[in-house]
Amino acid sequence: MKGIILHGGHGTRLRPLTHTGPKQLLPIANKPMSQYCLESLVDAGISDIAIIIGGIGSNKVQEYYGTGENFGAKITYVNQDHPRGIAHAIRLCKEFIGNDKFVVFLGDNILKKSIVEYVSKFKQTDATASILLCEVNNPTQFGIADVKNGIITKIMEKPKNPPTNLAVTGIYLLTPTIFGIIDRLKPSWRNEYEITDALQMLLQEGHKIIYNMVTDYWKDTGTPQDIIHANEVILRSTEPYFHGIKEDNVSTMGNIMVGEGTIIKNNSKIIGPVIIGKGCVIDAASIGPNISIGDNSKLSKCSIENSIIMSGCNIDGDFKIKNSIIAFNSEITMTDNTDSKIFLLGEGTKISL
Ligand code: G1P
Repeated sequence: MKGIILHGGHGTRLRPLTHTGPKQLLPIANKPMSQYCLESLVDAGISDIAIIIGGIGSNKVQEYYGTGENFGAKITYVNQDHPRGIAHAIRLCKEFIGNDKFVVFLGDNILKKSIVEYVSKFKQTDATASILLCEVNNPTQFGIADVKNGIITKIMEKPKNPPTNLAVTGIYLLTPTIFGIIDRLKPSWRNEYEITDALQMLLQEGHKIIYNMVTDYWKDTGTPQDIIHANEVILRSTEPYFHGIKEDNVSTMGNIMVGEGTIIKNNSKIIGPVIIGKGCVIDAASIGPNISIGDNSKLSKCSIENSIIMSGCNIDGDFKIKNSIIAFNSEITMTDNTDSKIFLLGEGTKISL
Protein backbone atom coordinates (compact mmCIF):
# COMPACT_ATOMS: atom_id res chain seq x y z
CA MET A 1 0.00 0.00 0.00
CA LYS A 2 1.02 3.61 -0.51
CA GLY A 3 0.35 6.78 1.51
CA ILE A 4 -0.58 10.39 0.80
CA ILE A 5 -0.18 13.21 3.32
CA LEU A 6 -1.95 16.49 2.62
CA HIS A 7 0.30 19.37 3.60
CA GLY A 8 -1.20 22.36 1.76
CA GLY A 9 -3.86 24.94 2.60
CA HIS A 10 -3.69 28.43 4.04
CA GLY A 11 -4.34 27.73 7.73
CA THR A 12 -6.23 31.03 8.03
CA ARG A 13 -7.67 30.27 11.47
CA LEU A 14 -4.13 29.89 12.78
CA ARG A 15 -2.78 33.23 11.64
CA PRO A 16 -0.36 34.76 12.49
CA LEU A 17 1.31 31.38 13.13
CA THR A 18 0.76 30.41 9.50
CA HIS A 19 2.09 33.58 7.86
CA THR A 20 5.52 32.01 7.55
CA GLY A 21 4.83 28.33 7.01
CA PRO A 22 2.20 25.61 6.73
CA LYS A 23 0.15 24.80 9.82
CA GLN A 24 1.05 21.13 9.55
CA LEU A 25 4.63 22.02 10.54
CA LEU A 26 3.50 23.66 13.79
CA PRO A 27 4.91 21.59 16.65
CA ILE A 28 2.92 19.47 19.04
CA ALA A 29 5.12 18.11 21.84
CA ASN A 30 8.10 19.53 19.90
CA LYS A 31 7.37 17.60 16.70
CA PRO A 32 5.62 18.93 13.57
CA MET A 33 2.05 17.68 13.59
CA SER A 34 2.41 16.10 10.13
CA GLN A 35 5.28 13.97 11.45
CA TYR A 36 2.74 12.07 13.55
CA CYS A 37 0.89 11.21 10.31
CA LEU A 38 4.10 10.13 8.60
CA GLU A 39 5.15 7.97 11.55
CA SER A 40 1.70 6.47 11.72
CA LEU A 41 1.91 5.42 8.04
CA VAL A 42 5.46 4.07 8.44
CA ASP A 43 4.40 2.10 11.55
CA ALA A 44 1.69 0.48 9.46
CA GLY A 45 4.31 -0.64 6.94
CA ILE A 46 3.56 2.15 4.43
CA SER A 47 6.80 3.84 3.42
CA ASP A 48 6.15 4.94 -0.16
CA ILE A 49 4.50 8.28 0.58
CA ALA A 50 3.48 11.32 -1.45
CA ILE A 51 3.30 14.65 0.36
CA ILE A 52 1.05 17.23 -1.29
CA ILE A 53 2.49 20.69 -0.79
CA GLY A 54 1.33 24.15 -1.76
CA GLY A 55 0.83 27.57 -0.21
CA ILE A 56 3.07 29.64 2.04
CA GLY A 57 6.42 28.14 3.02
CA SER A 58 5.89 24.80 1.30
CA ASN A 59 9.66 24.67 0.69
CA LYS A 60 9.99 24.22 4.49
CA VAL A 61 8.17 20.90 4.19
CA GLN A 62 10.73 19.64 1.68
CA GLU A 63 13.59 20.97 3.81
CA TYR A 64 12.28 19.18 6.89
CA TYR A 65 11.34 15.79 5.43
CA GLY A 66 13.88 15.66 2.57
CA THR A 67 13.89 12.30 0.80
CA GLY A 68 12.20 10.76 3.82
CA GLU A 69 15.27 8.64 4.54
CA ASN A 70 15.60 9.92 8.11
CA PHE A 71 11.99 8.94 8.77
CA GLY A 72 12.09 5.45 7.24
CA ALA A 73 10.11 6.59 4.21
CA LYS A 74 10.55 7.36 0.52
CA ILE A 75 8.85 10.68 -0.12
CA THR A 76 7.56 12.05 -3.42
CA TYR A 77 6.47 15.70 -3.37
CA VAL A 78 3.42 16.69 -5.36
CA ASN A 79 2.57 20.33 -5.86
CA GLN A 80 -0.99 21.62 -5.59
CA ASP A 81 -1.07 25.13 -7.05
CA HIS A 82 -4.25 26.23 -5.22
CA PRO A 83 -6.08 24.68 -2.28
CA ARG A 84 -8.86 23.18 -4.41
CA GLY A 85 -9.99 20.52 -1.99
CA ILE A 86 -8.98 17.15 -0.62
CA ALA A 87 -10.36 15.22 -3.60
CA HIS A 88 -8.41 17.44 -6.00
CA ALA A 89 -5.22 16.83 -4.03
CA ILE A 90 -5.80 13.07 -4.13
CA ARG A 91 -6.41 13.17 -7.90
CA LEU A 92 -2.94 14.69 -8.38
CA CYS A 93 -1.49 11.41 -7.10
CA LYS A 94 -3.10 9.10 -9.68
CA GLU A 95 0.21 8.17 -11.35
CA PHE A 96 1.99 7.85 -8.02
CA ILE A 97 -0.64 5.41 -6.72
CA GLY A 98 -0.92 3.23 -9.83
CA ASN A 99 -2.95 0.11 -8.95
CA ASP A 100 -2.24 0.08 -5.21
CA LYS A 101 -4.62 0.53 -2.32
CA PHE A 102 -3.64 3.62 -0.34
CA VAL A 103 -4.14 5.67 2.83
CA VAL A 104 -4.73 9.43 2.76
CA PHE A 105 -3.84 11.27 5.97
CA LEU A 106 -4.70 14.95 6.40
CA GLY A 107 -1.53 16.49 7.82
CA ASP A 108 -3.46 18.48 10.43
CA ASN A 109 -5.25 15.46 11.90
CA ILE A 110 -3.86 14.01 15.09
CA LEU A 111 -4.83 10.41 15.79
CA LYS A 112 -3.44 8.91 18.96
CA LYS A 113 -4.07 5.28 18.09
CA SER A 114 -1.98 3.39 15.55
CA ILE A 115 -3.62 2.73 12.16
CA VAL A 116 -2.05 -0.75 11.85
CA GLU A 117 -5.30 -2.58 12.56
CA TYR A 118 -7.32 -0.49 10.06
CA VAL A 119 -4.69 -0.96 7.36
CA SER A 120 -4.48 -4.74 7.73
CA LYS A 121 -8.28 -5.01 7.69
CA PHE A 122 -8.43 -2.89 4.53
CA LYS A 123 -5.80 -5.03 2.79
CA GLN A 124 -8.12 -8.03 3.17
CA THR A 125 -11.50 -6.48 2.39
CA ASP A 126 -13.22 -6.19 -0.97
CA ALA A 127 -14.65 -2.78 0.06
CA THR A 128 -13.76 0.16 -2.19
CA ALA A 129 -13.01 2.46 0.74
CA SER A 130 -12.75 2.51 4.50
CA ILE A 131 -13.16 5.53 6.73
CA LEU A 132 -12.66 6.27 10.41
CA LEU A 133 -15.59 7.82 12.22
CA CYS A 134 -15.46 9.67 15.51
CA GLU A 135 -18.30 11.03 17.66
CA VAL A 136 -18.15 14.83 17.96
CA ASN A 137 -20.13 17.54 19.74
CA ASN A 138 -20.09 19.92 16.76
CA PRO A 139 -21.16 17.79 13.78
CA THR A 140 -21.97 20.78 11.54
CA GLN A 141 -18.22 21.39 11.20
CA PHE A 142 -17.18 18.08 9.68
CA GLY A 143 -17.94 15.55 7.03
CA ILE A 144 -20.68 13.39 8.56
CA ALA A 145 -21.73 9.79 7.93
CA ASP A 146 -25.23 8.45 8.36
CA VAL A 147 -25.03 4.87 9.57
CA LYS A 148 -27.93 2.40 9.80
CA ASN A 149 -27.47 -1.06 11.30
CA GLY A 150 -23.72 -0.85 10.92
CA ILE A 151 -23.88 0.20 7.27
CA ILE A 152 -22.98 3.65 5.94
CA THR A 153 -25.97 4.98 4.03
CA LYS A 154 -24.89 8.54 3.32
CA ILE A 155 -21.86 10.81 3.60
CA MET A 156 -22.18 14.58 3.50
CA GLU A 157 -19.96 17.63 4.04
CA LYS A 158 -20.74 19.90 7.01
CA PRO A 159 -24.54 19.40 6.98
CA LYS A 160 -26.77 22.09 8.54
CA ASN A 161 -28.94 19.39 10.12
CA PRO A 162 -26.61 16.49 10.81
CA PRO A 163 -28.40 13.12 10.96
CA THR A 164 -25.68 11.77 13.32
CA ASN A 165 -22.70 13.09 15.24
CA LEU A 166 -20.31 10.72 13.44
CA ALA A 167 -17.54 12.84 11.94
CA VAL A 168 -15.58 11.50 8.99
CA THR A 169 -12.00 11.91 10.18
CA GLY A 170 -9.19 12.90 7.84
CA ILE A 171 -7.82 9.38 7.46
CA TYR A 172 -9.17 7.67 4.34
CA LEU A 173 -8.29 4.16 3.12
CA LEU A 174 -8.94 4.08 -0.61
CA THR A 175 -8.59 2.15 -3.86
CA PRO A 176 -7.81 3.66 -7.30
CA THR A 177 -11.56 3.48 -8.13
CA ILE A 178 -11.76 6.89 -6.42
CA PHE A 179 -9.85 8.59 -9.28
CA GLY A 180 -12.59 7.93 -11.86
CA ILE A 181 -15.13 9.27 -9.37
CA ILE A 182 -13.14 12.46 -8.67
CA ASP A 183 -12.97 13.13 -12.42
CA ARG A 184 -16.76 13.44 -12.41
CA LEU A 185 -17.04 15.61 -9.26
CA LYS A 186 -18.38 19.17 -9.29
CA PRO A 187 -16.91 21.79 -6.93
CA SER A 188 -18.90 22.39 -3.74
CA TRP A 189 -20.36 25.67 -2.42
CA ARG A 190 -16.90 26.49 -1.03
CA ASN A 191 -15.46 25.85 -4.50
CA GLU A 192 -13.57 22.74 -3.44
CA TYR A 193 -13.57 19.18 -4.72
CA GLU A 194 -14.81 17.46 -1.56
CA ILE A 195 -13.67 13.99 -0.58
CA THR A 196 -17.04 13.52 1.12
CA ASP A 197 -18.82 14.12 -2.23
CA ALA A 198 -16.54 11.54 -3.85
CA LEU A 199 -17.33 9.02 -1.09
CA GLN A 200 -21.06 9.71 -1.44
CA MET A 201 -20.80 9.10 -5.19
CA LEU A 202 -19.06 5.78 -4.48
CA LEU A 203 -22.02 4.77 -2.29
CA GLN A 204 -24.56 5.89 -4.90
CA GLU A 205 -22.82 3.81 -7.53
CA GLY A 206 -23.09 0.70 -5.39
CA HIS A 207 -19.60 0.51 -3.93
CA LYS A 208 -19.07 -0.68 -0.38
CA ILE A 209 -17.51 1.67 2.19
CA ILE A 210 -16.65 0.13 5.53
CA TYR A 211 -15.79 2.05 8.69
CA ASN A 212 -14.13 1.83 12.09
CA MET A 213 -14.98 3.94 15.12
CA VAL A 214 -12.21 6.00 16.69
CA THR A 215 -12.86 5.74 20.40
CA ASP A 216 -9.44 7.06 21.38
CA TYR A 217 -8.26 10.62 20.71
CA TRP A 218 -8.69 12.33 17.32
CA LYS A 219 -8.35 16.03 16.63
CA ASP A 220 -8.58 18.18 13.52
CA THR A 221 -6.29 20.98 14.66
CA GLY A 222 -7.97 23.97 13.03
CA THR A 223 -7.62 26.50 15.85
CA PRO A 224 -4.99 27.45 18.48
CA GLN A 225 -7.19 25.86 21.18
CA ASP A 226 -7.21 22.58 19.22
CA ILE A 227 -3.42 22.60 19.01
CA ILE A 228 -3.01 23.33 22.73
CA HIS A 229 -5.41 20.50 23.52
CA ALA A 230 -3.65 18.02 21.22
CA ASN A 231 -0.36 19.09 22.81
CA GLU A 232 -1.66 18.17 26.26
CA VAL A 233 -2.96 14.78 25.13
CA ILE A 234 0.27 13.83 23.34
CA LEU A 235 2.42 15.04 26.26
CA ARG A 236 0.46 12.88 28.69
CA SER A 237 1.24 9.75 26.70
CA THR A 238 4.92 10.44 26.01
CA GLU A 239 7.53 8.36 27.86
CA PRO A 240 9.49 10.49 30.34
CA TYR A 241 13.24 11.10 30.01
CA PHE A 242 15.72 13.55 31.50
CA HIS A 243 18.92 14.30 29.54
CA GLY A 244 19.50 17.79 30.96
CA ILE A 245 20.99 19.16 34.16
CA LYS A 246 19.04 20.39 37.15
CA GLU A 247 20.10 22.05 40.35
CA ASP A 248 19.08 20.42 43.64
CA ASN A 249 16.73 23.29 44.48
CA VAL A 250 14.57 22.54 41.43
CA SER A 251 11.29 20.70 42.01
CA THR A 252 9.74 18.41 39.40
CA MET A 253 6.55 16.38 39.28
CA GLY A 254 4.54 14.44 36.71
CA ASN A 255 5.50 13.37 33.20
CA ILE A 256 8.62 15.29 32.15
CA MET A 257 10.79 15.08 29.03
CA VAL A 258 13.98 17.16 29.00
CA GLY A 259 16.53 17.26 26.16
CA GLU A 260 20.33 17.33 26.18
CA GLY A 261 22.14 20.45 27.31
CA THR A 262 19.09 21.97 28.99
CA ILE A 263 19.76 23.57 32.37
CA ILE A 264 17.04 24.02 34.97
CA LYS A 265 18.05 26.17 37.90
CA ASN A 266 17.27 28.69 40.63
CA ASN A 267 14.27 27.09 42.38
CA SER A 268 12.43 26.52 39.12
CA LYS A 269 9.32 24.37 39.33
CA ILE A 270 8.40 21.92 36.56
CA ILE A 271 4.89 20.48 36.70
CA GLY A 272 4.31 17.77 34.10
CA PRO A 273 3.30 16.95 31.56
CA VAL A 274 6.08 19.11 30.13
CA ILE A 275 8.56 18.69 27.29
CA ILE A 276 11.63 20.92 27.13
CA GLY A 277 13.88 20.63 24.08
CA LYS A 278 17.67 20.73 23.85
CA GLY A 279 19.89 23.60 24.96
CA CYS A 280 17.25 25.49 26.94
CA VAL A 281 17.72 27.48 30.14
CA ILE A 282 14.93 27.54 32.71
CA ASP A 283 15.83 30.04 35.39
CA ALA A 284 13.64 30.74 38.45
CA ALA A 285 10.54 29.91 36.40
CA SER A 286 7.43 27.84 36.96
CA ILE A 287 6.70 25.64 33.94
CA GLY A 288 3.58 23.54 33.49
CA PRO A 289 1.36 21.74 33.36
CA ASN A 290 0.87 21.10 29.60
CA ILE A 291 3.88 22.87 28.19
CA SER A 292 6.08 22.26 25.19
CA ILE A 293 9.27 24.29 24.89
CA GLY A 294 11.33 24.02 21.70
CA ASP A 295 15.15 23.87 21.51
CA ASN A 296 17.38 26.74 22.63
CA SER A 297 14.73 28.76 24.43
CA LYS A 298 15.36 30.72 27.60
CA LEU A 299 12.68 31.24 30.22
CA SER A 300 13.36 33.30 33.31
CA LYS A 301 11.21 34.31 36.30
CA CYS A 302 7.93 33.70 34.45
CA SER A 303 5.15 31.25 35.16
CA ILE A 304 3.72 29.41 32.14
CA GLU A 305 0.94 26.85 31.80
CA ASN A 306 -1.03 25.17 29.04
CA SER A 307 1.08 26.65 26.23
CA ILE A 308 3.47 25.96 23.38
CA ILE A 309 6.71 27.92 23.23
CA MET A 310 8.63 27.11 20.05
CA SER A 311 12.40 27.06 19.66
CA GLY A 312 14.68 30.07 20.05
CA CYS A 313 12.33 32.07 22.30
CA ASN A 314 13.37 34.34 25.14
CA ILE A 315 10.81 35.01 27.87
CA ASP A 316 12.05 37.00 30.81
CA GLY A 317 9.95 38.60 33.52
CA ASP A 318 7.78 38.06 36.53
CA PHE A 319 4.48 37.47 34.73
CA LYS A 320 2.12 34.60 34.03
CA ILE A 321 1.36 33.21 30.58
CA LYS A 322 -1.35 30.64 29.86
CA ASN A 323 -3.23 29.15 26.88
CA SER A 324 -0.70 30.66 24.48
CA ILE A 325 1.27 29.68 21.41
CA ILE A 326 4.50 31.59 20.99
CA ALA A 327 6.22 30.99 17.65
CA PHE A 328 9.91 30.52 16.83
CA ASN A 329 12.43 33.15 17.97
CA SER A 330 9.90 35.36 19.78
CA GLU A 331 10.87 37.51 22.72
CA ILE A 332 8.78 38.70 25.67
CA THR A 333 10.59 40.73 28.30
CA MET A 334 9.57 43.15 31.08
CA THR A 335 10.17 46.84 30.56
CA ASP A 336 11.12 49.08 33.47
CA ASN A 337 8.32 51.45 32.60
CA THR A 338 5.16 49.88 34.04
CA ASP A 339 2.80 52.41 32.37
CA SER A 340 3.68 51.58 28.82
CA LYS A 341 4.55 48.38 26.96
CA ILE A 342 6.73 48.04 23.89
CA PHE A 343 5.56 45.82 21.02
CA LEU A 344 6.94 44.73 17.68
CA LEU A 345 4.10 42.62 16.35
CA GLY A 346 3.65 40.64 13.16
CA GLU A 347 0.46 40.80 11.11
CA GLY A 348 -2.53 39.18 12.80
CA THR A 349 -0.90 39.03 16.24
CA LYS A 350 -3.21 38.60 19.24
CA ILE A 351 -2.39 40.04 22.66
CA SER A 352 -4.49 39.91 25.77
CA LEU A 353 -3.17 41.99 28.69
C1 G1P B 1 -12.04 18.26 6.01
C2 G1P B 1 -13.10 17.43 5.33
C3 G1P B 1 -14.14 16.95 6.35
C4 G1P B 1 -13.46 16.20 7.48
C5 G1P B 1 -12.34 17.05 8.09
C6 G1P B 1 -11.53 16.20 9.05
O1 G1P B 1 -12.64 19.45 6.50
O2 G1P B 1 -13.69 18.19 4.29
O3 G1P B 1 -15.07 16.11 5.71
O4 G1P B 1 -14.42 15.87 8.46
O5 G1P B 1 -11.45 17.55 7.08
O6 G1P B 1 -10.44 16.89 9.56
P1 G1P B 1 -11.89 20.89 6.43
O7 G1P B 1 -10.74 20.80 7.38
O8 G1P B 1 -11.43 21.06 5.01
O9 G1P B 1 -12.92 21.89 6.81
